[in-house]
Amino acid sequence: DAAVTVLGLESSCDETAAAIIRLDPEGHVEVLADRVRGQTAAHAPYGGVVPEIAARAHAEVMDVLVAETLGDAGITLADVDAIAATSGPGLVGGVMAALMTAKGLALGAGKPLIAVNHLEGHALSPRLVEPLAFPYLLLLVSGGHTQLLIAEGVGRYHRLGSTLDDAAGEAFDKTAKVMGLGFPGGPALEKAAVSGNPARFELPIPLNNRPGFEFSFAGLKTAARQIWEKIESPSSADIFDLAAAMQDKIAVTLSNRASNAMKYFIETYPDALTPVLVVAGGVAANKAVRAALEDAAKAAGFRLLAPPMKWCTDNAAMIALAGAEHFRQGEQDALDVPARARWPL
Ligand code: KG4
Ligand code: ZN
Repeated sequence: DAAVTVLGLESSCDETAAAIIRLDPEGHVEVLADRVRGQTAAHAPYGGVVPEIAARAHAEVMDVLVAETLGDAGITLADVDAIAATSGPGLVGGVMAALMTAKGLALGAGKPLIAVNHLEGHALSPRLVEPLAFPYLLLLVSGGHTQLLIAEGVGRYHRLGSTLDDAAGEAFDKTAKVMGLGFPGGPALEKAAVSGNPARFELPIPLNNRPGFEFSFAGLKTAARQIWEKIESPSSADIFDLAAAMQDKIAVTLSNRASNAMKYFIETYPDALTPVLVVAGGVAANKAVRAALEDAAKAAGFRLLAPPMKWCTDNAAMIALAGAEHFRQGEQDALDVPARARWPL
């Protein structure tokens, strides 16, 4: 049996996570344990993620999570083939919690250490669901990242474009904050948008009708803030309508840029039978965004694949999988591998 069992750890933003997966030679994944501990309540009073609070909270629960996941899987450290941890990009103080824990466990148990790029975890996350063949197109839309890339193989990613300023999730969060909708802003703004009229307020569609794969949300965010500041005492209708307009423009922008990328993908890989567009990241939870991407994918002849929400947002199963793929290729990292704030894929 050439399957590999890997423990993965994640703490690069505001979720502490540990998971154990088994990857077989055909690419089938069995998730033996998968735990995530959020920190939303700790950050809520500040209206955003506070790095020092995040780092401490990760450090407090990381080893407990490891013990719990081993218990869930009914195995011990001796049964894992390798230990993987996110080593960046992210808040370095936070990244250290998973990375240092993984180093200690690897040293203590005499197991190989695999340092994983968090973005590669997201890029491979659809393969937790099915042994999806390369190449496929990926739209990663989270609070920290917005990018389009082609996954060509394990360790081989062709970045088409990323955001020139804010990430899509950031645009949701900051607009929600300005409008007093609470933290995290994305889900709150989506809720407000449900009963809103997206056509009442005029907002720009960033990079509309332009070729290319970059994103930009700063101008849209500012336009929404300016409209908000001109409303004297906002009624519920004002709130709902502005939220709906903002959500609509973000969804249209994401689907426009994804459409450009799908066209490019078809030109680059004319033989791809059923091309796949994967959407991952927290913003993939948004129904308007999903609907816009469904339409765009259908029009371009693509299948839209969105991993279940627990694997769209930050999790350790995707980190364990990326680690397992690299381990299977005979790679491992030295114990002095550093935590990195920046690490483009
Ligand atoms: O992937 P994720 O959990 O964490 C990282 O940023 O890595 O993504 C979180 C982001 C936040 O900006 C959050 O507001 C956004 O995803 N988000 C949403 C929704 N759910 C989460 N944005 C819009 N609509 C939602 N339903
Ligand atoms: Zn992430």
